[in-house]
Amino acid sequence: MGIRSMEKRVLIPRREIQSKVKDLARQISSDYAGKEPILIGILNGVVFFFAELVMALSIPSKIDFIRASSYGSSSASSGTIKLVKDVEIPVKGQDLIIVEDIVDTGLTLNYLVKKLKSREPASVKICALIDKAERREQEVTIDYCGFKVQGGFLVGYGLDCAEHYRYLPDICVME
Ligand code: IMP
Ligand code: MG
Repeated sequence: MGIRSMEKRVLIPRREIQSKVKDLARQISSDYAGKEPILIGILNGVVFFFAELVMALSIPSKIDFIRASSYGSSSASSGTIKLVKDVEIPVKGQDLIIVEDIVDTGLTLNYLVKKLKSREPASVKICALIDKAERREQEVTIDYCGFKVQGGFLVGYGLDCAEHYRYLPDICVME
């Protein structure tokens, strides 16, 4: 069955996402009071979450982006990860918050955390909108987590299935 003919059921409606983003922003703003962390968004899926989170913070921040590829255009992980786009702001001595849309196997985040830690930042924390536990292969400590889900393939609010459906305002599950 083709991707376009699958049903998309709303799992997390837009207003629930918005209220969760505010909660996360409040926690981060309080933990980083008096600091100016660099928020590093993992492209592309994170874009809507990232923009709303950064604008909801009540502290100053800097932003940058990084991109790794692991999935190609299918939904099955290839297991190998490549850095496709690096950050541009020097991170040495800085407080970093890596922002991810969804953590699945954990391979992408582990790879990126290692890479960034090797550049001697002052601190590294992780913020993920969705923690999907089912296929975790490598342990990841998510310091700021939006929603926990067991499994399923999710699309919308930036998340794609072979580049389709990123534009949907709600998070939906394909079934
Ligand atoms: P991991 O390396 O397996 O943790 O994969 C993380 C990346 O896979 C995320 O940044 C997403 O781009 C993608 N991904 C994992 N699960 C989903 C999903 O349910 N929908 C859309 N993308 C996903
Ligand atoms: Mg993706």
